[in-house]
Amino acid sequence: MFKKIMIATDGSEMSMLAAVLAVGLAKISGATVTAIYVLDVHRLAQLPGYTEFPGLNDRLMKLMFTESNEAMSEIAEIAQDAGISYEKVVAEGNPSDEILRRSQELGMDLLVMGSIGRSGLNKFLLGSVAEKVVRHSKIPVLIVPGTK
Ligand SMILES: Nc1ncnc2c1ncn2[C@@H]1O[C@H](COP(=O)(O)OP(=O)(O)OP(=O)(O)O)[C@@H](O)[C@H]1O
Ligand SMILES: [Mg+2]
Repeated sequence: MFKKIMIATDGSEMSMLAAVLAVGLAKISGATVTAIYVLDVHRLAQLPGYTEFPGLNDRLMKLMFTESNEAMSEIAEIAQDAGISYEKVVAEGNPSDEILRRSQELGMDLLVMGSIGRSGLNKFLLGSVAEKVVRHSKIPVLIVPGTK
């Protein structure tokens, strides 16, 4: 039924649970998976001292790239172990906007993501990225809750 499944990852434990489920689903429905990580550059610019400390921008960007690489390798491995074809997209900008835009552009038919992410505030039912994607997506969204 699903042929192109997109996994949104911010490197969090929750998004890895989502990735495992997405790959399992891809296997039974003969789908390919595409993982997307969005470098949230706008959020960096809101940090105090962002413009004052020389080199801060570069270092934070580097950290984000490292995080995206780690998340992507982890998902690549999960997909490879399951024999599922895998692609990755690293985007830059507002996470929910980019997830919505790229999923549409790439003709995805299902989006899989965690209910929360790196901020991981359990008191919220959904994180802000998940909430905005669910509200605006034109394709089905599968939200994977935590185990706690
Ligand atoms: N930068 C991102 N790139 C790709 N996917 C993301 C990104 N940020 C979040 N996600 C996806 O959205 C899910 C929910 O994360 P979300 O950011 O909404 O919650 P949070 O980090 O707990 O709270 P908030 O960001 O609102 O403070 C994650 O598990 C992941 O699947
Ligand atoms: Mg978040």
